[in-house]
Amino acid sequence: MSFKMIVLPGDGIGPEVTAEAVRVLEWFREHRGLVVDVRHEQYGAAAYHQQGAIITDEVMADLIAVDAVLFGATGGPEFDEVPMAARRQGSLLRIRRHMEVFANLRPVIGYDELADTVSLKPEAIHGVDMMIVRELNGGIYFGTPRGVAQSPNGMERGVNTLVYETPEIERIARFAFDLAKQRGGHMHSIDKSNVLECHQLWRKVVTRVGAEEYSEVPLEHMIVDNCAMQVIRDPKQFDVMLADNMFGDILSDLAGAISGSLGMLPSASLSVADENGRRRALYEPVHGSAPDIAGQGIANPLGAILSLAMAIELSFHSPDDAGILRQAVRSALAAGARTPDIQGGHPTTAGTTEMTDAVLHELHRLHDM
Ligand code: IPM
Ligand code: MG
Repeated sequence: MSFKMIVLPGDGIGPEVTAEAVRVLEWFREHRGLVVDVRHEQYGAAAYHQQGAIITDEVMADLIAVDAVLFGATGGPEFDEVPMAARRQGSLLRIRRHMEVFANLRPVIGYDELADTVSLKPEAIHGVDMMIVRELNGGIYFGTPRGVAQSPNGMERGVNTLVYETPEIERIARFAFDLAKQRGGHMHSIDKSNVLECHQLWRKVVTRVGAEEYSEVPLEHMIVDNCAMQVIRDPKQFDVMLADNMFGDILSDLAGAISGSLGMLPSASLSVADENGRRRALYEPVHGSAPDIAGQGIANPLGAILSLAMAIELSFHSPDDAGILRQAVRSALAAGARTPDIQGGHPTTAGTTEMTDAVLHELHRLHDM
C-alpha cells in the first residue's frame, strides 16, 4: 500500500515542527517500509506575499485527493498585511469545511513521565486517556447571520449564530459513539442545554442516537461549565467526550493542562468514509503558530510528531507503527528530553531538533528489540 501526504507548514513555529514530523516519517519509510509520498506546499502569510494567495486553488483542490494533510500552524503578526478577502480564501476554517472534516479528534494523555512539570497532582493525571471528539464543520464558527453592522440606533452590533441541524448532530454523535464502542468505553456529551435551545436539540438527538443505536455505550450528559471544572478536578472520569465546535475548542486547550503543555497535543480531523472506506484527513498539532518563540528552535515538536502518529494509524493504517512512535515519545520524555514548555525541574533543555533526535533514538531502540 502506498499513500500520499501534503504538508502545509504554515506560519510561526509551523515550519519548524512539521519539518521534525517529516524527519520522523522518513525514519518509518527507511526502517519500517511505510510508503508515503510527501509533497510540501506553501501556506500562510509568507505564501501570500510570494504567490498572491495563502493557498493556491490547485493545492486546495488536491487536499481532498490525498490520503493525509499535515498542517503546521496559522496566524501571527504577518497576517496584518494580508487583505481580509485573501485571509478568508485560505483560512484554516475554510480548509476544514472544504475537506468536510467534521470530526476532530483530540486525544489527551496523562504522562507520568511529565508528573514533575504538570500543575495537576500526579495521581490526578495518572492513567488519563481521553478522546475529545469536537464537531468541526458547524456551530457558531460558521452559523449565519454573522458580522458587525450598524444598528438603527447608531450602535455597532456584533452577531454570530449558534446553529446545528439534526443530521449534523447525528453524524458527529455516531462518530463518537462508534469510537467509544471501539474503545470499550463510555461517553460524555457536553452542552449548555440549561440555557441554549440549540443545545437542547443537541442533547435530545445524542440521547436518541444513543438509545436507538448504541445502547451498549454508557452515555452521560454534562453541562459545559461543570465539565470545565471536572476536567481539572478528576480527568480520569472521562473516556470519549463529545462537544460542539466552540466548546470542543475551549475544552481541548483546557485538557492540555493534563498533558503538561499545549505543545504535547495532536489532532486529527476526518470526513465521512467514502465507498472504499477512505476518509479525507487533516492532521494538526493543537498549539498554533506561537509567534513569540518562532524561529528560535525551541518549539515542542511532539504535538506535530504525535499528529503524525495519528496519520500513521488512521490514514496509513499501520497501528503497530503508530504504537511504537507513541512509545518512543514516552521513552524520550522518560529519558529526560524536555523542550522549555515541559521543562519543569529538569536541568537539561532540548530544542526542537534535539527532542526529535531523542524520539528517533528511542525508535531505533524499540525497533531493534
Ligand atoms: C484550534 C484553533 C483554531 C480553532 C483557530 C486557529 C481558528 O484554536 O484548532 O483549536 O478555533 O478551531
Ligand atoms: Mg483552539
